Formats: sequence, structure tokens, C-alpha cells
Amino acid sequence: MTAEGLFVSFEGIDGSGKSTQARRLADALRARGRDVVLTREPGGSPGAEEIRALVLQGDPDRWSAETELLLFTAARRDHLERTIRPALAAGKIVICDRFADSTRMYQGLSRGDLRAAVDILHDLMIGQEPDLTLLVDMDPIAALRRAKARATAEERFEDFGQALQDRMRAGFLALADEFAHRFRVIDGTRDEDTVAAAVLAAVDPVLAARAGAGT
Ligand code: ADP
Ligand code: TYD
Repeated sequence: MTAEGLFVSFEGIDGSGKSTQARRLADALRARGRDVVLTREPGGSPGAEEIRALVLQGDPDRWSAETELLLFTAARRDHLERTIRPALAAGKIVICDRFADSTRMYQGLSRGDLRAAVDILHDLMIGQEPDLTLLVDMDPIAALRRAKARATAEERFEDFGQALQDRMRAGFLALADEFAHRFRVIDGTRDEDTVAAAVLAAVDPVLAARAGAGT
């Protein structure tokens, strides 16, 4: 657990509803008077947003798998230094749309097995995990349909197709087992309000435990 503040991440395949739910959680906690920083990866600080454009736009083969891993890690380091750590130190709730678990999946699995390199770089340069990770889990076909309905210039990873989305879903569920102490799996196939209620039901006990611990 972080010394102060609370660090919550959302993870899951493209189109599963992470951004929607991250925003709704931020709104719900702010409505209760909490100080919330809603942020995202890649990005979340000016420098990291510049790196986001480098990794998500342009020719998908622009970077080798290793260079891409370094770019995502560089973006995360800047985000951590400039946005996440200062907010946590100020006692705020940080809600992050994707974090290091996305690198474990996308860079770790999608272009060969780079998971060991991902973990080494994470230990060396990041060294921070969320207090709570909400995995929005859903069927990749339905998620892909949602993602495709949303036209953006950032198609780099959404063009993976169903086979890889299937592997990503299974990989995220395996990560939820690996880091069971901080992961909660949320069924993302349900309507937005129902998912939002499930998210709050997962967050509230952690907030209550934190309050009980006197932080
Ligand atoms: P992600 O951040 O995981 O890619 P988004 O939150 O951007 O997903 O959602 C993808 C699309 O699906 C958006 O158009 C959003 O409005 C829609 N959406 C999100 N949650 C739901 C839901 N529970 N049911 C139906 N559509 C949803
Ligand atoms: P995001 O904007 O969250 O996409 P979406 O809303 O479609 O889920 O993330 C953009 C893409 O970046 C997404 O396809 C996953 C990818 N990504 C990585 O490959 N590695 C990472 O470390 C992160 C944070 C994201």
C-alpha cells in the first residue's frame, strides 16, 4: 500500500469500458468530496502525452518490440514522477486508466515473450503497483465491436483482431490470479450503471480499510 493517498488502476482489453468506468468512479468519489486525480496511460503528464503520440499513431511497425517497451516505460516514469507520486503524497485518490499491467500484457505477450524484460524494467524504473486494480473483463468480440465503433487515430493496438484479444483477456485473468491481493475482476458485459455499482462495491472496502488504518 502507498504511504498516503490511494492508487487505483483500471485494466482490460480495448473497448471493455475502462475509460467510462474510470470517469464514473472519479465522479462518484468527487461527489463524496474526495480529492481525485483521473489520469491515463500512456500519457497523464505533458511529456508522457508526447510519447503517447509516438507509440499510438503512425505505422504499427514503426518501433521494434523492445523500443516500444522502452517508450511505454519512459512514459510511465514521467507520469509517475510528475503526476502520480505528487498526488499520492498529497493524500489524493489517483485513478489511472491502464498502468503497468497493460505493459505486462501488451508488450509482454503480443510480439513475442518479453515478460521477463518488462518485469526487469518495471523493477528498475517504476517500482510501484496500484493499491487496487479493477480488471473490467468481457468477451473480446463484444469489446472489439465497442472499440471499432469509436473512430480515433490511435488504432495501433485495436487492429490486433480477435485472436490476440482472446489471449489478452486470458492473460489479464491470469494476472488477476498472480496479483490476487490487489486485483478485483468486474464483469464488464453488463450495462454501465451496473458495472459502475460493482466498481464502487470493490473500491469502498479498500477506502474503509484505509480510513480504519488512520490514513
Ligand atoms: P475502453 O476504455 O476500455 O477502451 P470505453 O470506456 O472507451 O472502453 O468504452 C468503449 C465504448 O463502449 C464507448 O463507446 C463507450 O461509450 C461504450 N461503453 C462503455 N461501457 C459500456 C457498457 N457497460 N455497455 C455498453 N457500452 C459501453
Ligand atoms: P487506451 O487509450 O487505454 O486504449 P483503449 O481505450 O482502446 O483501451 O490505450 C491505448 C493502447 O495502448 C491500448 O491498445 C493498449 C496500449 N498499451 C500498451 O500496449 N502498453 C501499455 O503499457 C499501455 C499503458 C497501453
